[in-house]
Amino acid sequence: MNALPPRIPVTRGQIERVVKHFYAAVRTDDVLGPLFNGILSKDPEIWRTHEAKIANFWANAILHERSYDGNPMLVHSGISALDPTMFTNWLALFDKTLSDQLPADLALQWSTLAHRIGRGLRFGVESAHHSIGPPILR
Ligand code: HEM
Repeated sequence: MNALPPRIPVTRGQIERVVKHFYAAVRTDDVLGPLFNGILSKDPEIWRTHEAKIANFWANAILHERSYDGNPMLVHSGISALDPTMFTNWLALFDKTLSDQLPADLALQWSTLAHRIGRGLRFGVESAHHSIGPPILR
């Protein structure tokens, strides 16, 4: 039992369904597919592990399960093939999956959270690409 109420009233089952449908769409997406298939390969076992990790990420963020303790900022900043404009594609596909799989009010709440996290990640990736550091004073 978690001490805090869910941030959004979705179930674990709904999270797993959204994740499964989202990555099924990612795999065949013209822009995102090649990048994901290049890193995760087409091995179904690797995809199952990835999807389980992402379901844990969302269950952690939404249901306050202590199921994920990774560092998405570090992971995404380290993907050299990731162009920041791909966040627009990722979020559009995620929104489509949410509205296909969930009632409208839940889809909207989850979308708002995804866009907030996505903005933060995109900013981190852009900063890493431009290697923003301290000013050179001489
Ligand atoms: C441009 C958009 C994105 C691309 C191309 C992308 C791509 C990837 C890839 C290829 C991985 C697997 C890395 C590996 O296992 O080596 C990954 C991991 C992950 N992604 Fe994304 N991603 C994107 C946006 C997002 C967004 C918006 C979120 C959250 C809302 C997210 C959450 C995660 C998480 C939690 C992981 C697991 C990190 C870990 O290993 O702990 N991603 N992503």
